[in-house]
Amino acid sequence: MKQFFKYINYLFSAKTKHGIHSPFVYDFVTTVLNDKKNYPDYDRIKNLRKQLLQNKTTINVTDLGAGSKTNKSNQRTISKICSTAEKNKKQAQLLYRIAAKYKPNVIFELGTSLGVTSLYLAAANKNTNLITIEGCPETATVARDNFKKQNAQNIKLVHGNFDDVLDPELQNYFNTITDKENHTALFFVDGNHRKEPTLNYFNTCLQYANANTIFIFDDINWSDEMREAWIDIINQEQVTVSIDLFFMGIVFLRNQQAKENFVLKF
Ligand SMILES: C[S@@+](CC[C@H](N)C(=O)[O-])C[C@H]1O[C@@H](n2cnc3c(N)ncnc32)[C@H](O)[C@@H]1O
Repeated sequence: MKQFFKYINYLFSAKTKHGIHSPFVYDFVTTVLNDKKNYPDYDRIKNLRKQLLQNKTTINVTDLGAGSKTNKSNQRTISKICSTAEKNKKQAQLLYRIAAKYKPNVIFELGTSLGVTSLYLAAANKNTNLITIEGCPETATVARDNFKKQNAQNIKLVHGNFDDVLDPELQNYFNTITDKENHTALFFVDGNHRKEPTLNYFNTCLQYANANTIFIFDDINWSDEMREAWIDIINQEQVTVSIDLFFMGIVFLRNQQAKENFVLKF
């Protein structure tokens, strides 16, 4: 109920392209947020989602995060996981367009689940290295299978707790980068929706960030804790442009930009 009122408040305060003076954000709205084209990759991944929604196989879910608000049992069908944990089509397609527009060299995804958003992000730009982390072994196995079915060659799935594997994976990857200034990384934080862990993941990734870095946080209104984490993040000195889409928050560290938070209609 509380979330419903927050959403109504968002709908009344969110701006369209007409209220935006920043050329960078105006460009984001017109070429990314409001892009209604149907890209061929959408249909391919949509077919996989359809198969997952029909898959009644049960797996044992190990939850290392904040858990699900709707699923309390550890035994879950793939169909149920797909309908509750995966981003919906509209949000997943937006992730695709963000990756297509800003062409990150690397994407770190925290929370693979069945791999639906990994596939969108990786398909947007075949030159991107996508490193996705999942703590539940049986869920990770299904995701691996989905990557194989879709022939996604630019995805590396790491099985482990974010707390243990994120920093080593970041070190591994960033140690190989020579042109650190022109490198673009996208961090998509989509697991363990609690305040302290979210801030820890942000601060860990921030050590490897530059002015091109983009962060995307899912479910910034999932709970009071997540809202608090989002507010803390956008108040950090390094954050210049932040975009609040209610279900998702996007952060840019562009240093040529005045600090401003935009609540945008999506
Ligand atoms: C919301 S789902 C990810 C959905 C996925 N990005 C999509 O939309 O296709 C979150 C995932 O993060 C995983 N997770 C949560 N906390 C974790 C942790 N501390 N370490 C590793 N994985 C974790 C969960 O097992 C779950 O599969």
